[in-house]
Amino acid sequence: MSSLSPNVLLLEQTNQLKGLFSIIRSKDTHRSDFVFYSDRIIRLLVEKGLEQLPVETHDVQTPLDVTYEGVKFLGKICGVSIVRAGESMEQGLRDCCRSVRIGKILIQRDEETALPKLFYEKLPEDISDRYVFLLDPMLATGGSAILATEVLISRGVKPERIFFLNLLAAPEGIVAYHDKFPNIKIITGGIDPKLDAKKRIEPGVGDFGDRYYSI
Ligand code: URA
Repeated sequence: MSSLSPNVLLLEQTNQLKGLFSIIRSKDTHRSDFVFYSDRIIRLLVEKGLEQLPVETHDVQTPLDVTYEGVKFLGKICGVSIVRAGESMEQGLRDCCRSVRIGKILIQRDEETALPKLFYEKLPEDISDRYVFLLDPMLATGGSAILATEVLISRGVKPERIFFLNLLAAPEGIVAYHDKFPNIKIITGGIDPKLDAKKRIEPGVGDFGDRYYSI
């Protein structure tokens, strides 16, 4: 991608982050390390997402009886994972937001049409009042994420309240997603050059769900 749209928030490509990606990208990495280091990247994505949320001023008294001019988070959030790989990102969200509500969307390829098809959704009833972190580790073609986002919007969630978190994205997926939803922020850990002939992100990490859940 020649230049990033303002609605693509790429994590700062520090040596720390490159080190984490080097571990999860390696085909020689065993499952427990893949999970541990993916979880570290997920945590960074969640923190980046939380940074986007509005706050109001909130002063507190410290034990020294001095005022700290702080802030308080505004609004309610929830996570929505695209099953199965997106479920790997739920714990990272729970670690940052106590008692956060989590919904799930299951999308699979329709055998007849080869298009993504919605099989199941379970979302908080008040989702339209919430900021939504949509969770799916790999943004490849964007097909599942687009369908999942259509479900969220059909449930009354405003696009500007949706944040799509993924560890890795392909340019094709970013373009397809933003063609449909230009106002939704994509928060990603890395943008790889392309998809291969099998629609895998290249160089990528391989099949994220298989490696995380080690079926
Ligand atoms: N999903 C994955 O797990 N990996 C890819 O490369 C693309 C989609």
